[in-house]
Amino acid sequence: MKFTYYGHSCFRVETKGSSVLFDPFISPNPLASGVDMDSITADHIFVSHGHDDHIHDCVAIAQRTGALVVSNFEICGWLRKQGLERLHAMNTGGRWAFPFGLVKAVAAQHSSGLPDGTYGGNPMGFVFKTDDCNFYYAGDTALTLDMQLIPSFVPPALALLPIGDNFTMGYEDAARAATMIQCRRIIGLHFDTFAPIHIDKDRAKAHFDRTGLELILPEIGSTLEF
Ligand code: NI
Ligand code: MN
Repeated sequence: MKFTYYGHSCFRVETKGSSVLFDPFISPNPLASGVDMDSITADHIFVSHGHDDHIHDCVAIAQRTGALVVSNFEICGWLRKQGLERLHAMNTGGRWAFPFGLVKAVAAQHSSGLPDGTYGGNPMGFVFKTDDCNFYYAGDTALTLDMQLIPSFVPPALALLPIGDNFTMGYEDAARAATMIQCRRIIGLHFDTFAPIHIDKDRAKAHFDRTGLELILPEIGSTLEF
């Protein structure tokens, strides 16, 4: 599986011939100014919740690529009003078989209002079961005991967790989450984009090292293979 990071919580995985983009927020992110948004390909776009720093570029990218957008019921309804037609609504606890594998929508402890104030339903995370790699994208969330359920669906080989604190869990809680979900390899997301989520990256990595875990903080624009 190929992973490419576009900054904040936006990344793409290429697996089994599919190109799956998550939480598109690129054009307003000064840290991602080197990313050419118009060259990003995607056939699926997953949106974890309604906040602007996760949905800002969704309509533009979906319109250009024709990607199927997957999110919760309320967000899909809102996206339809923005002109999108290829939508797949899920809700917490539900599973669906996509061409690239099985996805389960799981609880995230956060909020989900849409940019114009519309009610955005409940935030979600997603667990992916694919032939290539099983992984968990937590979305924006606090550390929550619900995470203990994730390995009973599939033990993830890789987890993408927020680590920036203030709006979500910080890196200490992310390390506790790693233990709960039984996954040693974590990609950190949702840090450094805004002042309240600036972190000391060396400290975060050292904290993970001490607990026998791996924290990967990819460069924006870089691609990693798992
Ligand atoms: Ni949020
Ligand atoms: Mn956020």
